Amino acid sequence: MKISIIGQGYVGQTLAVGAAVSGYEVVGIDLNEALVSDLGRGESFVPGVESEVLIKLITEKAYLPTSDFKHMKGSNIVVIAVPTPIDKDRKPDLTAVMQACKSINKFIEEPVLVISESTSYPGTLRDVIKPTVEKGSKVNFTFAVAPERVDPGNSKWNITNTTRVVSGLTEEATYGAIDFYSSFCKSIYRASSPEVAEAAKLLENTFRQVNIALINEVSDVMSRLGISANEVVSAASTKPFGFMKFEPSIGVGGHCIPVDPEYLTYFAKKVGVESKLTNLANEINLHRPKQIAQRIKKHLGGDIKGIRIQIAGIAYKTGVPDMRESPAIELIAELNHLGALVSWHDPIVSTFMAQKSLPLDPSINLGLIVTPHSEINFKPWEEANTPVIDLSVGPTNLGWPKFL
Ligand SMILES: NC(=O)c1ccc[n+]([C@@H]2O[C@H](COP(=O)([O-])OP(=O)(O)OC[C@H]3O[C@@H](n4cnc5c(N)ncnc54)[C@H](O)[C@@H]3O)[C@@H](O)[C@H]2O)c1
Repeated sequence: MKISIIGQGYVGQTLAVGAAVSGYEVVGIDLNEALVSDLGRGESFVPGVESEVLIKLITEKAYLPTSDFKHMKGSNIVVIAVPTPIDKDRKPDLTAVMQACKSINKFIEEPVLVISESTSYPGTLRDVIKPTVEKGSKVNFTFAVAPERVDPGNSKWNITNTTRVVSGLTEEATYGAIDFYSSFCKSIYRASSPEVAEAAKLLENTFRQVNIALINEVSDVMSRLGISANEVVSAASTKPFGFMKFEPSIGVGGHCIPVDPEYLTYFAKKVGVESKLTNLANEINLHRPKQIAQRIKKHLGGDIKGIRIQIAGIAYKTGVPDMRESPAIELIAELNHLGALVSWHDPIVSTFMAQKSLPLDPSINLGLIVTPHSEINFKPWEEANTPVIDLSVGPTNLGWPKFL
């Protein structure tokens, strides 16, 4: 069986390797030629996609990274794994999905099962993907969704042991998709319609957004009392039922938590429902870095003009170089806006917006730990007794006080 995957980012690469290792002939297509040539050399930025495995698969002709859509010809399955971001008005932007659909329409000449792994609102497969792929084509296409749940960098849950929710527009499509995913996923959940599967994905990430907003709000209340919200969360987490642990943070980042709930609120509005709670959670987490900057200002006596601050780790989470929607971007902007002189150190991001990561500076007035990658060596700050605040999520045991 030949599988083509459009989009070779976090989701597409993870799937490409999963499918190729299971015996499929995989074509991984991406418009980004630099990314494709990195992959061709066995170089990947995605945690869990190992160089030796890539090289082995490429050598055995089990995996072909390419920018040439012609290689899709003869595929049995085409998977869409392109970004579904939000536009400047925070509305769904399906441009990449539409482009991917048009490429399938143009290059596929034989019957194919089209599966979308891209996150979107209910009805995207039926009302957007299907008509765009089929437009003017004589090919017999079938369609399914199988929203990706990969958590890059998570060593416990991966593409194999995370249950996959699958559903097709026809029985044939559903069974085709179940057959495909069963070859490398241990557990499949068949949803009764693609809309259920699409909505389930939005619910999963909206659930996180709402709970993170709640715990961030609680953190603000506790800080007024001089109590650590992290300690409150640890105490509450001892309850064995009815409570789930979420930890305070400087905001949410990545391609999922800040984005997917906006797809839900967009869809809710479309069907005439006001999603008050989700809107509020989006707002709380979006404005969180600004609030944290204010708390830091207060902590430093109310004036941070000219204060030299350095941030350790700017990626949106530990262990990944992913800067998409990282709350550190807004935190830096706000601290600068308040008059501080902010620099950053992140050995795995290394360059962002044409700025390079600077070495940890022991002489700064305040160090802020945001994303404590294991690659960061905190010795310069330890040895110089640099004042440091730990803003990172969860336990870090670095020895500096947790601020949230
Ligand atoms: N990153 C995650 O952890 C994660 C988890 C679950 C679901 N998702 C969802 O999966 C989808 C993909 O996310 P991602 O994180 O892999 O994105 P990504 O940005 O890492 O990768 C997408 C890739 O698609 C390529 N691309 C864009 N348009 C294209 C086109 N028309 N043809 C070919 N290639 C194209 C881009 O160059 C990019 O390399 C999104 O809908 C996202 O919400 C992501």
